[in-house]
Amino acid sequence: MDRTPTARDRRVRTAIFPVAGLGTRFLPATKATPKELLPVLDTPLIQFAIDEAREAGIERMIFVSHPSKEAIERYVRADAELEATLRERGKARLAEMLHDNAVDEDAMQVRFVMQPEPLGLGHAVLCARDEVLPGPVAVVLPDDLILGGEGCLKEMIDAYDPARAGHMVATMQVGAEEVSSYGVLDATGREGGLILARGMVEKPAPEAAPSRQAVVGRYLLDASIFEALDGLPPGAGGEIQLTDAIAAGVETVGLCGFRFSGVRYDCGSKAGMLAATMAYAGGQAAYASVLAAPPGGLTTAAE
Ligand code: UTP
Repeated sequence: MDRTPTARDRRVRTAIFPVAGLGTRFLPATKATPKELLPVLDTPLIQFAIDEAREAGIERMIFVSHPSKEAIERYVRADAELEATLRERGKARLAEMLHDNAVDEDAMQVRFVMQPEPLGLGHAVLCARDEVLPGPVAVVLPDDLILGGEGCLKEMIDAYDPARAGHMVATMQVGAEEVSSYGVLDATGREGGLILARGMVEKPAPEAAPSRQAVVGRYLLDASIFEALDGLPPGAGGEIQLTDAIAAGVETVGLCGFRFSGVRYDCGSKAGMLAATMAYAGGQAAYASVLAAPPGGLTTAAE
């Protein structure tokens, strides 16, 4: 049988959203509300991730969740009853907005798989293995919010050439004192918007960091990532690290970084969430008018 990959096999058709983490940096808010549903102004983080994947032409979304975070599934899927109630009460525009936000399951395949214990990002991605479509996969971390410009995932897919590098990670330059908070590329050079790399290290000490190119939460990964993750021992922080599995594939499938055009906010941290909220509200002036706005804020006041 001819095993040459077809053009369809090389397309990124699946997006994995790991949403099973504990969100400890946002306790107590995350005791009962999943971090991925915390709002930036009025829009939950997961909505931005969904919209980015839709813009990128993804066909199947896999949410790797935890049984205690079932509110995420309720948010992602359409709620016909709530929409009908809103329509009955003369709030057709709100119903329409909810309908547009929810994933249209006629156009998009949706899967929920459970990660019983938060053993790390690599383990979460491995949990999605049985549900992925053939070919490379995208991984989107909803708490890394990227605003402005074209959607980061679309930009990456447009630039992706698996013949050159099967693993592509979104990167940004950070200060030397910040590298220990990120996965960091062992960069060898540049080619247009791509950063060529021969490896990747998770949370290095500043003196040991191979570069200042930090990896943020968007990945396009060759399907061999699942073999690399299977049986991988825990790495930094005692967690099964996606970074280690990516680094293991450098020789065989290749690795590059991609400098996206938007601005990234670390919405897993309070400072990042605050900055994202300010930016999303349109800067200082708009932020002041939001504070003065009636309940319902910017997007719902017209009802
Ligand atoms: P983070 O490390 O930022 O999230 O993981 P966390 O562990 O929930 O947050 P803190 O550090 O305790 O505050 C990034 C993304 O990966 C998911 C998280 O839900 C988040 O969306 N994740 C992380 C998993 O799905 N499983 C894991 O085992 C770890």
